[in-house]
Amino acid sequence: MRLVVPSFAKVNLTLQVLNKRSDGFHNLRTVFHTISLADTISFDYVPSSVIDLELAGNVEIAENLISRAAKAFLETTGLGARLKIHLDKQIPMGAGLGGGSSNAAVALLALSRLTGTETDLHALASALGSDVPFFLVGGCALGEGRGTELTPLPDMATEPMLLVTPGLHVSTPPAFAALNRSPDYALLAAAEDVNDFETPVFAARPELASIKSRLVELGATKSLMSGSGSSIYAMFRSEAECIQAAQAIGYPSHRVRFVAREEYQSRIAGTLLP
Ligand code: C5P
Repeated sequence: MRLVVPSFAKVNLTLQVLNKRSDGFHNLRTVFHTISLADTISFDYVPSSVIDLELAGNVEIAENLISRAAKAFLETTGLGARLKIHLDKQIPMGAGLGGGSSNAAVALLALSRLTGTETDLHALASALGSDVPFFLVGGCALGEGRGTELTPLPDMATEPMLLVTPGLHVSTPPAFAALNRSPDYALLAAAEDVNDFETPVFAARPELASIKSRLVELGATKSLMSGSGSSIYAMFRSEAECIQAAQAIGYPSHRVRFVAREEYQSRIAGTLLP
């Protein structure tokens, strides 16, 4: 059996980093939304008594989260499988777009569908990474705790949207460390349209601050870094302004749209081929 699935990226509509926890993670308050930029993953599956995984694709990724997700699913359920996975990577890595997390979540869902076996995917997803459970849900969702406690929210309406991907790889743990949050840091007010990572990441990479302010000059009604960067997205009043901004910004960019939960869930169910 062969299952082909899209694996969508996300942006953070807002992201506040709260206190540092005793387990080394931080409590967050964030709103995630899936967007139309996507990888494609195919799974060729044959039931077996052993676990035999092969991963190929257009990128070489050490410690790939897809293989870790597939192994975690098979070990938890006690199933064997001969699995050939092919990843067509389109989502830039280290860009704050959740590409690896999305891949891991769709791998869990694909394995569940291919093997016809249900298990607690949220628990497996949380163990793989803080952003992975969101990609089991998609659309718009509030993330709290480590980011794994999710509350679905109404999806955003479609607006002209540009995602600028400057190609700088920002590592997440140092970005958290730079915030220097104490264990008793308290959030005074929940804010929208903020990303706490902008301050330390822009200080280290001033060209990212310039991209954000240039997008506003080009007419953006909102411009925000996603996750711990380096991607910066912007909303525009018209497609014409969005296209103009793409031409003027001087960095690689993608015109994208929000993907609502219903569309997300139907698309990631994938296409099953014999
Ligand atoms: O969960 P994930 O593997 O994506 O986290 C990567 C790193 O980011 C963690 O090891 C931790 O340093 C930091 N992190 C954090 N608080 C979170 C999520 C991630 O401190 N809520």
